[in-house]
Amino acid sequence: MREAYVHGYDPRENERLQDQAGTLVDLLHADTAYPAGSMVLEAGCGVGAQTVTLAQRSPAARFTSVDLSADSITEARRRADQAGLTNVVFRQADIFALPFNAESFDHVFVCFVLEHLARPVEALAMLNRLLRPGGTITVIEGDHGSTYFHPDSPAAHAVIQCQVTLQREAGGNALIGRQLYPLLVAAGFDAVRVSPRMVYVDASRPELVDGFTRKTFTAMIAGIRESALARGLSEPDRFDAGVQALHRTTEADGMFCYTFFKGVGAKRRGA
Ligand SMILES: C[S@@+](CC[C@H](N)C(=O)[O-])C[C@H]1O[C@@H](n2cnc3c(N)ncnc32)[C@H](O)[C@@H]1O
Repeated sequence: MREAYVHGYDPRENERLQDQAGTLVDLLHADTAYPAGSMVLEAGCGVGAQTVTLAQRSPAARFTSVDLSADSITEARRRADQAGLTNVVFRQADIFALPFNAESFDHVFVCFVLEHLARPVEALAMLNRLLRPGGTITVIEGDHGSTYFHPDSPAAHAVIQCQVTLQREAGGNALIGRQLYPLLVAAGFDAVRVSPRMVYVDASRPELVDGFTRKTFTAMIAGIRESALARGLSEPDRFDAGVQALHRTTEADGMFCYTFFKGVGAKRRGA
């Protein structure tokens, strides 16, 4: 079944995903490495923003990266070629109808995908089926409710809420990070562990001010302007003031905080 994808597929969104991946590589990937020869499924690879990091960090593992969007797969393949990767194959496929046999993979990796799905537990259960007993799943999601900043601003919170509402109306959940533990347990995984990954940004970290606050988070919120206005969730002046207030947090006395959640679970042996 096709799910709506709230961020869309335009080139600016692709660039944002790339900036996000680049800025957060260590925070999100430092503890993920797959053994030589293992078969890894990356579900919802998009334009390959995480794929390049995954495949470079585990050069002897073999990755199969799938996405619903054929255009994204074309772009992901181009980026992987450009990075000289030889351990990834890409395929256009729907997580809810994957063309693989049960127990075909040693590991599964999913990043920023569940937040767009109306049936995340069902998706996780399908991915569970594809794992060999003892294999692992790694899931990374954000949670927009974890956002706080200085100077605080009701206008900024209001534009973030526009995103939360739009995503909910599209069948997704922008607050899903906090639910990773119960979702993975409900999908039948064992030994589930979730760890928060906080991004803390102030002027002493200029690469995060630019790469995360400006080009990732604020760019994402600015990108929903037309949809939020069309849906009547805000008005042009109010929306622009909210985005401006997010930009204000990038000044010398500003601060911005956001928390991602990374969950790992294992396929039950004898399942
Ligand atoms: C925010 S992007 C994340 C892409 C990538 N994992 C990353 O971290 O940059 C979400 C991706 O999930 C894909 N997606 C959404 N629903 C899907 C489904 N049912 N099957 C496969 N991919 C799906 C979208 O096409 C989109 O590329």
